[in-house]
Amino acid sequence: MADKPFGPQTLALHAGHTPDSDTGSRAVPIHQTTSYVFHDTEHAANLFALKEIGYIYTRLSNPTTDVLEQRLAALHGGVGALAVSSGMAAIFYAITNIISAGQNFVTGSNLYGGTQTLFEHTLKRFGIEARFVDSSDPANFEAAIDENTRLVYSESIGNPRCNVDDLRGIADVAHAHGLPFVLDSTVCPPPVFNPFDVGCDIVVYSLTKIIGGHGTAIGGAIVEKGDFNWGASDRYPELTAPDPTYNGLNLWEALGGADGKVCPVFVTKARIGLLRDTGAALSPMNSFLIIQGLETLPIRARQHCENAQKVAQFLETHYAVDWVNYAGLPSHKDHDRAMNTFSMGPGAVFGFGVKGGLEAGRRFIESVKLCSHLANILDAKTLVIHPATTTHSQSTPEEQMIAGVPPDLIRISVGIEDVDDIIADLDQALVSSLK
Ligand SMILES: Cc1ncc(COP(=O)(O)O)c(C=O)c1O
Repeated sequence: MADKPFGPQTLALHAGHTPDSDTGSRAVPIHQTTSYVFHDTEHAANLFALKEIGYIYTRLSNPTTDVLEQRLAALHGGVGALAVSSGMAAIFYAITNIISAGQNFVTGSNLYGGTQTLFEHTLKRFGIEARFVDSSDPANFEAAIDENTRLVYSESIGNPRCNVDDLRGIADVAHAHGLPFVLDSTVCPPPVFNPFDVGCDIVVYSLTKIIGGHGTAIGGAIVEKGDFNWGASDRYPELTAPDPTYNGLNLWEALGGADGKVCPVFVTKARIGLLRDTGAALSPMNSFLIIQGLETLPIRARQHCENAQKVAQFLETHYAVDWVNYAGLPSHKDHDRAMNTFSMGPGAVFGFGVKGGLEAGRRFIESVKLCSHLANILDAKTLVIHPATTTHSQSTPEEQMIAGVPPDLIRISVGIEDVDDIIADLDQALVSSLK
């Protein structure tokens, strides 16, 4: 038994935590403390100089958050993780950890709206250029790379287009240029999909969605695979050169990367650099809540995907529905790739069009009873939204079309209720949408 690696359901429940000898607490305790008593002055000095690993201050690390980080890393077979206060903070840190003013990164253009705004507007103010490309062909990434490119970025399943790209092909392009591939896989974490299996180096998550799973806490994470050779070029001095904020410590050498060791240099640098300096720390309480969700992620994820498939099939044959954009359906252009990529199915978030355009979309949303009308995805409960009158209402009709938001689009995030109940609610709302 000892030689056989644990499966994902076991890891989700146990990785990173052993009951402590003082209390025997079986649940992961909430370490609601800002600071930690040092053994003596030498211990304190060693912790500050990174000569010893331990807790100093909760902005940097915390025992509850540590369990969450270890559990996320274990589920991916990665070397380390950094949990932060939101998915947006995780994305911002993943980019700025190794990119400075005057440099660029190449990104697929089918992005979550918040990420799009960060990349297009906010990072620009810091002199960092996002080069947007059509992610359906890895060659498009290749064409945009130049000597100032520092990473390649994309999302595992686009929202709302539900596109599933050739992620292995994109990773190969990045690696051929000595660049890491960073993927936002918020909508399909393991065991639905492990981005490290297709060549990704760094994964970012909004933990707010299916990982937390209950709509109770905002959080984000960066997970590192650990075998990217940051020292192969002089492009990543943030990781491989002496750090003036740690008395010239060379992290790449200290962690063994320079000697060919697999090591968590990316997330360690994000913690002791950006998290220390800008402080988007996850609160211990939120770490605890997200751990509660993570413990049942594998069984919830299976139920989400099974329900989504049945709901998509129901909608595709409904007389009040014009089209359904779900990669689990043979009608979707990326269906074959999706079925080969995602073990349980391509997630539970997708779009469909109601007959009758904008007004019918509005009537549909106002008629749902079991489904919740709100701006989130992958709560355990089924969620719906009409993007043209909400998330994208500030855009012109032309801009909405470019963003993949036609007036009749309904975005659904299929929950884990009894699927017959979800379908009955959608059916009555669709009938009302025609009136
Ligand atoms: C794919 C994706 N990435 C990142 C985020 C941002 O996460 P958060 O809201 O936790 O900051 C979201 C939020 O909806 C998302 O859908």
